Amino acid sequence: MTSIGLVKLACKAAQRAYVPYSHYHVGAALLTKSGKVYLGCNIENAAYTPTNCAERTAFFKAISEGEREFEAIAIVGGLNMDFKDFAPPCGVCRQVMQEFCGPDFKIYLGKNNDEIAEYTLSDILPLGFTPENLQNQ
Ligand code: THU
Repeated sequence: MTSIGLVKLACKAAQRAYVPYSHYHVGAALLTKSGKVYLGCNIENAAYTPTNCAERTAFFKAISEGEREFEAIAIVGGLNMDFKDFAPPCGVCRQVMQEFCGPDFKIYLGKNNDEIAEYTLSDILPLGFTPENLQNQ
């Protein structure tokens, strides 16, 4: 699966976003090490705080299906499906990535002009708190 292929799937996922409050659609496509892709969209709520980001929707779908090994995630986001700027993952989603992925896990940010910015988890979450921090206490 190429980065551009994964970004296109993230665009498809964003169509399903439930965003009656912000109208900001986010789509994520999470690639497992075995080559399977899980899609996620953001799901908002009238009480606001129960809102779930697209990235965590994709992770929680995959984890709940038994997946534990991840290669990459593609993310797009924008008002009314206009992905004119990159949509970097929020801090909470970075922490969820940290729980299940190594430092080389890849993050592809996409725009609708096919521009892609590629990062690793260690680029976007330096000095993260990991499951290892709870060991050897
Ligand atoms: N959002 C995501 O889906 N992922 C992020 O990493 C940042 C924010 C969503 C939450 C909310 O539905 C909308 O974008 C505006 O914050």
